[in-house]
Amino acid sequence: MQRIVLLSICLLFLAISPLNAQRLSAGDLLCEYAANPIGIAPGQPIRLCWKMISSDSNLLQTAYEIKVTRKGRTIWNSSRVNSGQSVHVLYKGPALNARTRYFWQARIWDNKGHASEWSRINYWETGLDTSDWSAKWITPSTPDTTAAPAPLFRKEFIINKKIRSARLYITAHGIYETWLNGKRVGDAYFTPGWTNYNSRLQYQVYDVTHLLTTGANAAAAIVGDGWYRGSTYRGRKNIYGSAPGLLYQLEIILADGTRQILTSDQTWTSNYGPIRSSEFFNGECYDAQRERTGWLLAGRQDPTWQGVKIETASFSNLIATNAPPVKKHEIFKPLNIIKTPRGETVIDFGQNLVGWVHFRINGHKGDTVILLHGEVLDPQGNFYAENLRSALQSIKYIAKGTADEWFEPHFTFQGFRYVKVLGPIDLQNVEAIALYSDMGETGSFSTSNPLIDQLQHNIQWGQKGNFIDIPTDCPQRDERLGWTGDAQAFSATATFNMDVAAFFEKWLKDLSSEQLPDGAVPYVIPNVLRAKDNAAAGWSDVATIAPWNIYLAYGDTTILRNQYNSMKGWVNYIRSHAVNNLWNTGDHFGDWLFYTPGDADDDGRAAITDKHLIAQIFYANSVQLLINTARILGIREDVTTYSTLLPKIKEAFVDEYTTRKGRLVSGSQTAYVLALNFDMLPDSLRHQAAVRLIQNIKDYGNHLTTGFLGTPHLCHVLTRFGYNNIAYMLLLQETYPSWLYPVKKGATTIWERWDGIRPNGTLQQANMNSFNHYAYGAIGDWMYKVIAGINPVDTAPGYKSILIAPRPGGSLTHAQASLKTLYGSIGSSWKLENENFTLDIVIPNNTNAEVILPGTNERRRVGSGSYHFSYSIPQPR
Ligand code: BGC
Repeated sequence: MQRIVLLSICLLFLAISPLNAQRLSAGDLLCEYAANPIGIAPGQPIRLCWKMISSDSNLLQTAYEIKVTRKGRTIWNSSRVNSGQSVHVLYKGPALNARTRYFWQARIWDNKGHASEWSRINYWETGLDTSDWSAKWITPSTPDTTAAPAPLFRKEFIINKKIRSARLYITAHGIYETWLNGKRVGDAYFTPGWTNYNSRLQYQVYDVTHLLTTGANAAAAIVGDGWYRGSTYRGRKNIYGSAPGLLYQLEIILADGTRQILTSDQTWTSNYGPIRSSEFFNGECYDAQRERTGWLLAGRQDPTWQGVKIETASFSNLIATNAPPVKKHEIFKPLNIIKTPRGETVIDFGQNLVGWVHFRINGHKGDTVILLHGEVLDPQGNFYAENLRSALQSIKYIAKGTADEWFEPHFTFQGFRYVKVLGPIDLQNVEAIALYSDMGETGSFSTSNPLIDQLQHNIQWGQKGNFIDIPTDCPQRDERLGWTGDAQAFSATATFNMDVAAFFEKWLKDLSSEQLPDGAVPYVIPNVLRAKDNAAAGWSDVATIAPWNIYLAYGDTTILRNQYNSMKGWVNYIRSHAVNNLWNTGDHFGDWLFYTPGDADDDGRAAITDKHLIAQIFYANSVQLLINTARILGIREDVTTYSTLLPKIKEAFVDEYTTRKGRLVSGSQTAYVLALNFDMLPDSLRHQAAVRLIQNIKDYGNHLTTGFLGTPHLCHVLTRFGYNNIAYMLLLQETYPSWLYPVKKGATTIWERWDGIRPNGTLQQANMNSFNHYAYGAIGDWMYKVIAGINPVDTAPGYKSILIAPRPGGSLTHAQASLKTLYGSIGSSWKLENENFTLDIVIPNNTNAEVILPGTNERRRVGSGSYHFSYSIPQPR
């Protein structure tokens, strides 16, 4: 272990000036977290952001002006507002009309007397009001009950005049793909996405002007089972309904200004085609012999097509969306093609990913290809899929026997690294495609230790694979649900790797909509479990924790405002179940998947933490976050009420779970970590609690023992209480249980269990052994904040102010991280070479930072710009 001892400092501090000064401008305009969104709900608040572009340093915005126009006429001008605010500035003009495009620009002034020109023009476009829907919900007139083939819908129509513009408003009961004149509309998958369909069903809006033509046109769509009616947890199906449905409204503005509308109605036709079944858990069965030719194009008369039935479904649940849809991302070529001891042909893609395989078939008409997907090989090196439980993750393709026959599935995704192949597939022409919500990557992180870099890679891939429209627990077995505890644990880390604001905003609205009248929050969101599956400590607390973490990262009070009633509802639920301020009832998951020894636990090594002790701490934390939020939103009565309550909750904790000398009733790491992290103990008892925590870590041979709830806070507590060296020791620990143990075992994602593959090479019990579960990846938050030193500041959230406080340690000699924020990119990179320490940082315009130089007592306040610090930290000999 390397300790940094400071003997003398000779500090060199350089503000690096750019060679070519760039003039001031407002750039990267965003509306509702997107550049030019279409389909914004007409009634929602409109948040506008821009970046201050200039190569000057120490730059702050002093004023802005926003101009919004419609059809060339200014409808709102903010006038010059003397303000430094450049993010989430609310549109305050006249009420917005539906289906209308608004153009906007900003100009800004800085603290050095410069004024920018008007920015480039961006736009947002509103979607429909509920009353604007004239389309009807349609379903095939003849349901096919044999399997669950995906129905095809089509309609031909004529456009007589020249087209000025066209928009498609579309959603489904199920998930849809849609084409106009043979061309796929958009590049999103699994649309309309997963929400609490009973009260919130998203529709998408596409600009389809370029896909239409004057004359004959064809509209076509396929609807897969999706989350609406496909298989879900515990073998259930048809959660929201049993009939696949399509709602389709195409609005064409013609050159003469008139409007032509094509809607789904009784004049559409339906049929069944090659997709015999397609659903998330089980995969897809595709019979290419049943492909229908020409159905995507106009001029095709086929007597086998049947009518449709009109469904009387509600329109009141339809909502516009600004959440990022799922899209295709990385493509992987096979790393290896393996012949297993059992003789199986298995493709190894080298990365546990979520998506599907795109492949070429080398066969004859009627030949069958089967692909089975798995995450790991068994100890003998054979294909392994038992940990998928009942999920088949199988792709079955029946060939049509044409030349150059290619396939990729439609309404399913698989979690896999290995694919077992049966049948005539062309192994030279196979690739795996990763699909996940289209959130921009915001963070980068690397160090001098390749194992830590692999850990960071695994965290990012855990996030990619599990952010599929909602934050899931795992993407492969028969679960794939929005487990709240997992999302809570990972939410802070998630904000470092990707832009997750709109993603969480959507999911949190579903959380509010699923909350029970008494405030209880279900275990999973959207809720597909039993009515009684709700209100668990550390799970339901996502209601307060996630909005707060999103607020810290993006500084967006709208998200806090959206969630406030939900946050308060959850706190009041606990309050009403607490007796004398003690919440010690109810079923809880506790510190899920904490360390237990493999064999008999004769001397009591399992790191069990009393579940009600945990519940009391999460109660206090939720109250604290509610107070913070009430303060920001100016809800004074609540600040008073809950500020009076909080000390009582902490007193009740100390009374019930702590001895006079400060020993906790559970001696586990998680108990001490949570009590310290959430300030449950009086000052006088904190030091001894930290000492007990350290002793516990030593008792386990310098290993962690924490589960889902303790793990995110373990290293933070160690660093905060002066044991940064122990935090590094745990991070760099390579033997089980530790973060690097799976890395040493070849993991490419974060595992559900610390020992998914045991030290002796055998696999953990198949009924719960996912190799892609992000919860333990919550260490990422500490890696960015402590190793690289990039921290948000809660008094100026969204990185308006930044704390740069890297704390080197362990054997690391170098670390770098960057984070794209709404203001611009933050950078922090340090190197330790012999005794020479250098730190290079980049602070975005319109922000400032406090820099705490490691190994010194120096604190520097700096404005925007690039800085280089260099000084010597003598090493112990
Ligand atoms: C999920 C977890 C989840 C848990 C609740 C599991 O089946 O995969 O990640 O939080 O149930 O205990």
